[in-house]
Amino acid sequence: MRLFTTKAGLLCYLERHRQNQEVGLVPTMGSLHIGHLSLIERARQDNAIVVVSIFVNPLQFAPTEDFQEYPRQLDKDRQLCEQVGVDVIFAPSTEEMLPPNPLNDNTQVIPPIEMISGLCGRSRPNFFQGVATIVTKLLNLVKPQRAYFGQKDAQQLAVIQRLVADLDLGVEIVPCPIVREESGLACSSRNQYLTESQKSQAPLIYSALQQAQKSFQAGNRNCANLIELVKAELAPTEDIQVEYVELVDPTTMIPLTQVDKVGLLAIAARLGSTRLIDNLLLRHRKPIVAIDGPAGAGKSTVTRLIAKTLGLMYLDTGAMYRSITWQVMQAGIELEDEPAIAELVSRSQISLTTDDASGTAVRVWLNAEEVTQVIRSPEVTAKVSAIAAQPAVRRALVKQQQSWGSQGGIVAEGRDLGTHVFPDAELKIFLTASVQERARRRQKDLEQQGFEQVSLAELEQDIQQRDLKDSTRTFSPLRKAADAIEINTDGLSIAQVTEKIVSLYHQQQSGILEQKN
Ligand code: PAF
Repeated sequence: MRLFTTKAGLLCYLERHRQNQEVGLVPTMGSLHIGHLSLIERARQDNAIVVVSIFVNPLQFAPTEDFQEYPRQLDKDRQLCEQVGVDVIFAPSTEEMLPPNPLNDNTQVIPPIEMISGLCGRSRPNFFQGVATIVTKLLNLVKPQRAYFGQKDAQQLAVIQRLVADLDLGVEIVPCPIVREESGLACSSRNQYLTESQKSQAPLIYSALQQAQKSFQAGNRNCANLIELVKAELAPTEDIQVEYVELVDPTTMIPLTQVDKVGLLAIAARLGSTRLIDNLLLRHRKPIVAIDGPAGAGKSTVTRLIAKTLGLMYLDTGAMYRSITWQVMQAGIELEDEPAIAELVSRSQISLTTDDASGTAVRVWLNAEEVTQVIRSPEVTAKVSAIAAQPAVRRALVKQQQSWGSQGGIVAEGRDLGTHVFPDAELKIFLTASVQERARRRQKDLEQQGFEQVSLAELEQDIQQRDLKDSTRTFSPLRKAADAIEINTDGLSIAQVTEKIVSLYHQQQSGILEQKN
């Protein structure tokens, strides 16, 4: 691991080491705790090079706030980073990051006022401007493919997502779930300010949010009522001084009166002089089931059956890639002409509809023209994987998949659905099978299709190679989500696997499987 305190050192390292590799950035203010470590671990899974920045950013502190006292422990942070496999720490001084200039002022990035005037912005007027400015600088310096932020700072996350979209910063922002102490208290560097007695009261903040969540799950959609419920839960505990409880749209931070689909229930409270924040997402949607796994594990058959059994829509991502392939062929565009394909796909609108109540018979529409049949031709089959491998195509289609996902009620299969496309899916399954079992299945399939017998050893080798390729490719590699349930299908029939997943779904629905935020 390397530590750089200057931009020059960092830039030189990245110039020499990145080549074509992907870089993940975890911006922090140091004093690392298990919440930060979860971001770093996620970055480690996704990228070849992981950079952690440690910079207590003066721009995001008001003169009355704890900039001087903010905990600084570089040696300990360094050890932790080493343990979790960080490649580079970037820990600049204030002068290095914000060099003095004759104006005694700096250019700053101002996020949309509506996003930053409520919630934490009310008591911390310069905070988000300071965060947006420093994050923009860090992104420009490191130029990572991905940057990782915790959902605990939900307003910060939304502001950064807006910033990246509005300024075309071309980095993927990866939101990571809140990590909690055993008591339920959300991890924060500021928890170390709490006295023993405050520490025993602090978890009440989360349990008050959970009470509102229960009421929401029982059908209460009224924001004023849900907010009152949180305040009433905390009122008897005099040591907890609530600064705000708000229910807002999680992407715009605009207050809601009623939660129709999704709302962010956020709180800030003081225990003594320590300010703590926390939040919960209240979501009213049918669940999403994301099924990932290597080729030959039986994903597509099982996924169709699950859609049918549970009355969910089968989101046929393969049909989407086929539609684009068909369109590329119709337009006479060469497969190698990636920029032309990128333009085409960014203008295309695919929709999937279902005819029957079970939701399995999917009809496919491309720019309002039905393409259900034509996309199944052997010509399309021959070209679809070359098209699906193009980053611009994947980016555009993942965006469309996510926009369907916002309504829920779908089941989909692939390689990165649980990690990338639907990281907030209610149920994530990683379907796998041993190489030997998958080779046997493949051999049987080939036999049934009338092909000459291929040796098992040869098939096993092919499968191993394919697994390696799938899990190491730069775009959408095969990956098991940390919260996915792994099912090894060796020795199980399709019906047994389906039954297992359906039962997990029912457990999730009845709250037996742990709820995600
Ligand atoms: O969340 C934080 O620690 C900070 O706000 C960040 C994103 C590192 C910017 O200084």
